[in-house]
Amino acid sequence: MSENLNNENKKVIFSGIQPSGDLTLGNYLGALKNWVKLQDDYTCYFCVVDMHAITVRQTPADLRRRTLELLSIYIASGISPEKNTLFIQSHVPAHAECCWLLTCNTYMGELSRMTQYKDKSKKYGDSIGVGLFNYPSLMAADILLYNTDLVPVGKDQTQHLELTRDIATRFNSSYSPTFKIPEGYIPKIGAKIMSLQEPLKKMSKSSDNPNSYILIMDPPAVIKKKISRAVTDSLGLINYTDDQPGVKNLLNILSAIKGTPPEELVLYYAGKGYSDLKADAADSIISELSPIQDKVQELLKDKSYLESIYREGAVKASHVANNTLRKMQKKIGMIPR
Ligand code: AMP
Ligand code: TRP
Repeated sequence: MSENLNNENKKVIFSGIQPSGDLTLGNYLGALKNWVKLQDDYTCYFCVVDMHAITVRQTPADLRRRTLELLSIYIASGISPEKNTLFIQSHVPAHAECCWLLTCNTYMGELSRMTQYKDKSKKYGDSIGVGLFNYPSLMAADILLYNTDLVPVGKDQTQHLELTRDIATRFNSSYSPTFKIPEGYIPKIGAKIMSLQEPLKKMSKSSDNPNSYILIMDPPAVIKKKISRAVTDSLGLINYTDDQPGVKNLLNILSAIKGTPPEELVLYYAGKGYSDLKADAADSIISELSPIQDKVQELLKDKSYLESIYREGAVKASHVANNTLRKMQKKIGMIPR
């Protein structure tokens, strides 16, 4: 059984981020920071999902640079390459093979209902790539190959996770029990960091307005400027309410970084103004990100160290993934090689 290939009977975590753009504070607070907290209690696979990134056109040189930068950000954020398996998706061919087997067990209707696909098809019209349509089957392959128990992601991925569970359940009942049905792990605070300019929309690296997001690699002066320009409202009161989405977002950011509940922050800011809140938010972001930025720069200078991490990661990941893949092929009726 492939479960036995995972360490120490710990439960298994799988998660990934696409190297498709510069990472934002949303990626950090919604995903990465939580991975760091979970790494001691689970057997973790953290993947740089480059095959997902190419569902939209990538410039080859940028993809190469961002893939290594993302791996460096994982490590610099505190994800230990010794404790966890860190790897690049395209280095483990079982992901593409498993994706095909799952694609044949996924319905057009299911994929057409995915909001991420619907949003993107508005942008690309008829020339939308088939890869974008099938994106969730590849994500299901990522997760299911490792007998994953828990998938820590931001809120925007819940629909893809639901579909993963549906595909796994269908495969288990069409053939025989093969996959664990994974659960999502969505953080209480930080699951959806909003745009600094349009606080009803998610903070996204694909936005056209750089003032709407903070990048993990933004220098302190830029972070201060972006936070000072963040859209709030004219009420002048610091409350944690949907009626004040800009203020709520700043409180969420502060809360996710400091670990203080937003309600407690509201008490602290009683009688204070938006400029105090903004100054504190900027300072806390800077002190959280600065050490990570320094470490990323250091890691990027040591390509052979990074190479040793992703090579070893691919070997470890392939071992578990190939085992699951062979099991699937056998159940489907393919002749063992
Ligand atoms: P992506 O950049 O789409 O590959 O997303 C990588 C991870 O970051 C996923 O777990 C997302 O759910 C999470 N994420 C992306 N944007 C945000 C955001 N604005 N707030 C919280 N989490 C986010
Ligand atoms: N679709 C995820 C995102 O955009 C990235 C991803 C790909 C992922 N495969 C995964 C996340 C497997 C968790 C598990 O955020």
